[in-house]
Amino acid sequence: MTLVSEKLCDHMAVAVTGLDLNRPADAATQAELREALNRNLVLCIRGQKLAPPAFRDAMARFGTPMRRLQLASTAECAEVNIISSEDRDVLGDGKKLVNGASWHTDDSFMREPCSLTMLYGVVVPSRGGDTQFVNMHAAYEALSPEMKARIDGLQVIHKYQSSRQTNKVSKRPESEMKAMPEATHPLVRTHPETGRKALYLNANRMEQIVGMDRAESDALLDTLIAHAIEPRFQYRHAWRQGDIVIWDNRSTMHKANADYPEGERRLMHRVIVAGDAPY
Ligand code: OGA
Ligand code: MN
Repeated sequence: MTLVSEKLCDHMAVAVTGLDLNRPADAATQAELREALNRNLVLCIRGQKLAPPAFRDAMARFGTPMRRLQLASTAECAEVNIISSEDRDVLGDGKKLVNGASWHTDDSFMREPCSLTMLYGVVVPSRGGDTQFVNMHAAYEALSPEMKARIDGLQVIHKYQSSRQTNKVSKRPESEMKAMPEATHPLVRTHPETGRKALYLNANRMEQIVGMDRAESDALLDTLIAHAIEPRFQYRHAWRQGDIVIWDNRSTMHKANADYPEGERRLMHRVIVAGDAPY
């Protein structure tokens, strides 16, 4: 089969059809997928029907799948996590939890955040439940020269439970929290594969800019977030059942929307692959 691709918006995101990932993509096709991802930051592979082990194996062609204890796993495959409309904060208040409801990049509280996240739409609601993305290369490039000079070299502390948090995160056991100490990352990072610079922000996990007083740090982070999420940098993905959406956490932020009709189900399978410490 030949790959057919379709741009999803003018500045990022592409969809491909004509692939069945139950059969491993050949080397040329895999290289084409990687190239499409690097160029477009968000890659949607349409029309998949994959059991968890097959999903993991297909995603392992993009990197090393990692386990995440904060999310439930499928019974068949520990590296395939579940994001669901039925998610609850089981160790906390037991209430409904919408993972990723504010703008973020995955796992920035880790010293080596995952490079890519793959979300597979197993059950999608009749409407709503879109995932939004922003292009953080474009957001960086659109900053004024004065702002670029001001933020050059700044480092930011990221935490699982940040005091600036805008979206509730699940409560975790003490032992697990110890394995997630705060991490310090550059505010502007360079993509290891493409060499392009990107703003590296996470509204939900950033605590403070290193060496800056709290009020000044808050004001600067708020300004940069407001800039990065401007509509001109956004792409909004309306899910079709069977979509796999792969995004690059080094060059995008994303956000979940829990606006689908009450009582409808949304079930996603999720894989992340290992990344490096940002620089
Ligand atoms: C995630 C995430 C968004 C969504 O899986 O990391 O933020 O729309 N998901 O479910
Ligand atoms: Mn996320």
